[in-house]
Amino acid sequence: MKNDLNEVTVYAPATVANIVCGFDVLGFALSNPCDKLTIRISRTPGVRITNLDSFGLPVEPEQNVIGASLLAMLSETQGHIGFDVDSTKAIKPGSGIGSSAASASGAVVGANSLLGDRFNRQDLIRFAMCGEQVASGVKHADNIAPCIYGGITLIRSSQPVDIVPLDFPPLFVTVIHPQIEVRTSDAREILRTRVLLKDAVRQWGNIAGLVAGFMKGDYNLISRSLEDVIVEPTRSILIPAFSRIKQESMNAGAMGGGISGSGPSIFMFSKEESTAIKVEKAVASVYTEIGLPFHTYVTTISKEGVQIR
Ligand code: HSE
Repeated sequence: MKNDLNEVTVYAPATVANIVCGFDVLGFALSNPCDKLTIRISRTPGVRITNLDSFGLPVEPEQNVIGASLLAMLSETQGHIGFDVDSTKAIKPGSGIGSSAASASGAVVGANSLLGDRFNRQDLIRFAMCGEQVASGVKHADNIAPCIYGGITLIRSSQPVDIVPLDFPPLFVTVIHPQIEVRTSDAREILRTRVLLKDAVRQWGNIAGLVAGFMKGDYNLISRSLEDVIVEPTRSILIPAFSRIKQESMNAGAMGGGISGSGPSIFMFSKEESTAIKVEKAVASVYTEIGLPFHTYVTTISKEGVQIR
């Protein structure tokens, strides 16, 4: 809600990074959940953050995703101004559905609107990546870009920022979030830094196939391109019953899927909503059986990024 020229409220969507084979270069926005941020512009320089949720995130601006993103923006802004931010997160930190990106993207989009849209989207991604660096130690844009643009985005390059929004056919998304925390920094730490050429060839074939499948609306091509031979084999050990969840999803009719971002959430694409609901039931029964608490979402790809309401 836009109350007056000094205050703005934004809603920033959850996102799924990587989309299985596209580590750090592909991502999409989810229709829910969304974080809410209210931002006020102030004559007092700096950033002040109030958390209106129970996640206990740090409020020191340099250690906070919102703070780091807005400080990066303020460093390129003339004049004595600052921001006060009230943050209400619905996206649990460490869930693998772009919690830090929602905070960073919501903050920079809201603040930019209070500045009369002084910065373009590439700038906003640059600022928000400073927030991602606080969260994961790395300036990756594959959650931020879809959070700001909406839809599915290809990050052809993050430095310099080069984002390509992709067309896509109707898709339903089932997300299952086992209630464990996987820190992105830890999930990156365990990755191999060298890959075999034969694996790289298979992976870029899949990435190209997935992009072509989205653009052409070719469900079969999307389905067979959802394969990751580089990152998933290592990271899946962090996620309880990962192979079973995947197998049960496919048995229930999913097109494919895998780890959402760095996990622990897992996402699956389905062509029909009824299938996505069957997939939800199938994966829920796996975690119920092993006694692991979880949350699920059945949702769609959001065509909208951060919304100012
Ligand atoms: N591309 C990042 C990773 C996304 O997989 O580490 C983190 O959400």
